[in-house]
Amino acid sequence: MGSDVIIRTEHLVKVFLAKNYGIINKILGEKPLFVRAVDDVSIEIINGKTTALVGESGSGKTTLGRLLVTLERPTSGRIYFHNIDITNIKGKDLRNIRAKLQMVFQDPYSSLNPMMRIKDIIGEPLRNRGVRDRELNEAVAKIMSEVGLDYSSLATRRPSELSGGQRQRVAIARALITNPEFIVLDEPTSALDASTQAQVLNLLIDLQSRHNLTYLLITHNIAVAKYMSDLVMIMYMGKIVEIGNTSIILKEPLHPYTQALIESVPDINKPELKPPSGESVALLIHQRVVGSTQDAHSEWIYAVKRSHPL
Ligand SMILES: Nc1ncnc2c1ncn2[C@@H]1O[C@H](COP(=O)(O)OP(=O)(O)O)[C@@H](O)[C@H]1O
Ligand SMILES: [Mg+2]
Repeated sequence: MGSDVIIRTEHLVKVFLAKNYGIINKILGEKPLFVRAVDDVSIEIINGKTTALVGESGSGKTTLGRLLVTLERPTSGRIYFHNIDITNIKGKDLRNIRAKLQMVFQDPYSSLNPMMRIKDIIGEPLRNRGVRDRELNEAVAKIMSEVGLDYSSLATRRPSELSGGQRQRVAIARALITNPEFIVLDEPTSALDASTQAQVLNLLIDLQSRHNLTYLLITHNIAVAKYMSDLVMIMYMGKIVEIGNTSIILKEPLHPYTQALIESVPDINKPELKPPSGESVALLIHQRVVGSTQDAHSEWIYAVKRSHPL
């Protein structure tokens, strides 16, 4: 493994008990159903780059993101951060690693505590690490100005008093305040209107270069992936089926799922690099890709075997 790899996984698996298996099913003696949300994922994330993780709803993107930042424990497999095995890290070591690995959650409304003031939401991760009073306030004010939030007018407001774009900036500030190296951005702009989406994406690009960040950008919008990412990983039913440079994947997609995704955006290969706007592409192409489970399996293998070199 080269020194430019920040995170690496080996045969990562996460199995959940299916959400709809409850007490009734148990009483009826039905066997529990399991979901392999992440199914044997071995990847390397390159330091300082943006890797887009693209796939349709339910393909396992959020679960993989949560595993990488230690918010979720794998069922099996291993995770390395700078070559250190963090799979079962605990206690103080875990707290120190968490500061370096952050996540911006999909829905800024439900991920921000509605009862708390903005400055307390943003400062909480530092407060948990023992920072207080003036030092804490200064850190909050500094990070708020970096993400384009006015401290004097917003610090004591609650999330419901902010716009969608401002709330997402709060979530970004909260992730940044511990000075992380790696941030998972889970659909960071999917809840925003077109112009706000472009502003937040540009802010993320700006913060990345200023803070030397590595992003894993989860999106189902291939236009966002094109605008933001150096590398793309395509996830399908818990597996990474295709991985490579964004420009190559967009030009020569190998997996039928990736091909369908790209075909659904007519302008995707136009050269100009504008922030994407408008509605994101709906991914209702599942049936086109999967003829039968058997076909889907052989297609995965085909795509993985021919995956682009990084
Ligand atoms: N905590 C959980 N308990 C049970 N099943 C879950 C849980 N989290 C995710 N899943 C299931 O795992 C699969 C992948 O989910 P998720 O990672 O959220 O996908 P995505 O982010 O790509 O939409 C889905 O079938 C989902 O229902
Ligand atoms: Mg998700």
